Amino acid sequence: MKVTVVGAGAVGATCADNIARAALCNELVLLDIKEGIAEGKAQDMMQTAALLGFDTKIVGSTNDYTKTAGSDVVVITSGLPRKPGMTREELIGVNAGIVKGVAENILKYSPNTIIIVISNPMDTMTYLALKSTGLPKNRIIGMGGTLDSSRFKYQLSQHLGCSPADLNALVVGGHGDTTMIPLISKATWNSIPVTQFLNAAQQEKIVKDTMVGGATLTALIGTSAWYAPGAAGAALVESILRDEKKLFTCCVALEGEYGQNDICLGVPVVIGKNGWEKIIDIDLTADEKAAFEKSAAAVRSMNDVLATL
Ligand code: 2OP
Repeated sequence: MKVTVVGAGAVGATCADNIARAALCNELVLLDIKEGIAEGKAQDMMQTAALLGFDTKIVGSTNDYTKTAGSDVVVITSGLPRKPGMTREELIGVNAGIVKGVAENILKYSPNTIIIVISNPMDTMTYLALKSTGLPKNRIIGMGGTLDSSRFKYQLSQHLGCSPADLNALVVGGHGDTTMIPLISKATWNSIPVTQFLNAAQQEKIVKDTMVGGATLTALIGTSAWYAPGAAGAALVESILRDEKKLFTCCVALEGEYGQNDICLGVPVVIGKNGWEKIIDIDLTADEKAAFEKSAAAVRSMNDVLATL
């Protein structure tokens, strides 16, 4: 199995590191446009192999896409990260050109690949990757909801005093501070609804803190977060390569599901060897439905910006 991670910045390198540690593939290519950075980070990671005990061969490449040929999965992390006070949406002007170029180059050498998009604004970049590659819809996956759901579990665990791994919780909709929808009504702690343990004010705080999870970290760190985004990308790669059929929220092309068309948006999906294999239809409350429609409208208007660039 072969995986390529495009973008050797903090998110890309962390994603690659997680993929290597889990020994998910024989070959892992890290590619970046900046001279030497991918080669350097690849070598640094290779120097952990003897300590961590993995056999994955990690190859760095400065923009040479021939090295990516025959990748089973490609993770795109390229583009600018957020600075404090910035929304993900403000990155569209610069990142759209970068992601389009990357997706087209990838396709030349790996026509049968599955693409995972992490670059922001993630919903629009996923839609752009779908349109610019023309790949079957099941092979284009936006990572956002996987990360947001993990952040949601973290927030819940802080209030419940429990292990995040014991929680089931989904964030659907867009991957934006105002477009994501943490479904607290459906969240459970080992199958017990979390709403039994949390009052209205606590629930509201958890939802709010989840929605601004990325912005909170950007303010603290001075740039976008990378540990959880990188781990979320690697979790999707694992579910594909090991055909685990795990359920994640991912940004995928909707054709009538959840009442939406011609848009990529976060919904629960099964991730396996064919990419996203099935959309899971869950009953949303009236409020959740309204929020989903609002989220779709915001993402759609961001997608419309693509035509003006
Ligand atoms: C985040 O939310 C990078 O968009 C990503 O941290």
